Amino acid sequence: MSDDGRANAPEPDEAPLDLIHAETEEVTSGIHGFSGRQIRLARDLLAHLYALRRARRLYPPEHPAVAEAARELFEVISVYHEEGVDVPLTFFEEEVLLGEHVLAEDSVLFDQLIRDMTAIGAGSVVFSRGLTVQEVERFADVVGSRYDEVAALEKGITTLVERAPMPHIRISAVSVVTEDITSRDEDSGQAARAAYTGALDLLRELERLIRQNQSLNAGHIKGTAHSLVDNVLRNRLAMLQLSGLKSFDEYTFYHCINVAILSLALGSTLSRDYRFLSSLGVGALLHDIGKMSVDIETLNKTTPLSSREWDEIREHPVRGAEMTALTKGIDRSSMVCILEHHMRYDLGGYPSRAPQRKQHVTSRIVAVADAYDAMTSQRSYSAARMQDEAMGIVVKSAGTALDPTLVRLFVDMLGHFPPRSVVLLSTGEIAIVLSPGTRDPELPTVRIIANSDGGFTDPIDMDLSDGLHAEGRSVVRCLDPAGMNIDVVDFL
Ligand SMILES: [Fe+2]
Repeated sequence: MSDDGRANAPEPDEAPLDLIHAETEEVTSGIHGFSGRQIRLARDLLAHLYALRRARRLYPPEHPAVAEAARELFEVISVYHEEGVDVPLTFFEEEVLLGEHVLAEDSVLFDQLIRDMTAIGAGSVVFSRGLTVQEVERFADVVGSRYDEVAALEKGITTLVERAPMPHIRISAVSVVTEDITSRDEDSGQAARAAYTGALDLLRELERLIRQNQSLNAGHIKGTAHSLVDNVLRNRLAMLQLSGLKSFDEYTFYHCINVAILSLALGSTLSRDYRFLSSLGVGALLHDIGKMSVDIETLNKTTPLSSREWDEIREHPVRGAEMTALTKGIDRSSMVCILEHHMRYDLGGYPSRAPQRKQHVTSRIVAVADAYDAMTSQRSYSAARMQDEAMGIVVKSAGTALDPTLVRLFVDMLGHFPPRSVVLLSTGEIAIVLSPGTRDPELPTVRIIANSDGGFTDPIDMDLSDGLHAEGRSVVRCLDPAGMNIDVVDFL
């Protein structure tokens, strides 16, 4: 029961159900002409745009890597053009939009690209039909420019655009009115995303500082943790939905934030004392910070670890506690939580202690959140488990690895089928879990998105614990949305 638990190798994922027929892909989202598939394709588009900017920043314009990145971006854009639509992208603040469709999940995944595009004055980019690969190569020179280069030009990015004719690419800045997002309750979803991206920035910065042997800033760490606490207290459901975000490449960063959100949500069911939640938030956010000094090759290894490598990984709680001890201003209970998060409820974990002493409550909370998030994430050495399977293992670990009372509260909080899970209903319909059942952890409130034939339907929200309205529907099990080409965020 640990995120390092390579012995707990999961069974191979079940074969994804092919319930969604190909033709249902063409069902439009009803949002400004882009189909659900075209909106999902935006992730590829953004990844190739990011890769082009990166290639041009690293290499001269004539380098083959730049031409290759330009060709790959051109190919993705061509898919849209062949389907008769132009590609308008907008970047501002922490958001990216395709047309007028906010790409909520991509806004978190591509936060660096959004910041870069905004900084160079390319907040609006439209790729029109008729585009050539040569234009995309010229576009590389514009998009790969440095902020200070652009700022030094008299007309900013317009000067660069005028130098390189690109009749089918329109680039301009977007003017944005900055608002205080924390002051508007209706925008709590946006505030939640801002807290998430703020935490991502912090963790990337911490890793850089640790690998360069530089000291950490307690004020930045606590400020980020407080932002998570505030958002969990104000809109727990929006934060729990975000805690389902995963990244294979940046597993540790996303894992630490998800564990912090789940820990704070669980901790706030015990106490809403701000000092307690602040210490818990810092401890949870930094619980794996000791891994940031472990050799990257060891962390990413797909084969069994040698005993020396295994010892190094098992040292991460002690290393993490030492790092935070050296950071003036971090509470002692946050350090305890980092030190003890793998100790296990039955004290059979690591590091061991003599005489043995009960794990601190914050350590026991983080251990539950850590176990669940690690199991539902894909790692270099194991596949992700479905949410209901992971929840079942958490329940089985009550009283051994995990505190049984906290496990009960965790299941009460998330239900057996946590928010954001894609589930198969007893009727054969497919639904997305919106919130846990208030009366029965097995009967959540769901949004039905596909009928039993696999065709998408107009979404219908239904509280499955409402017997009359739900007409006896129940949840059979969780499904793998990637296997069915479903992007959950499109339906939330
Ligand atoms: Fe850990």
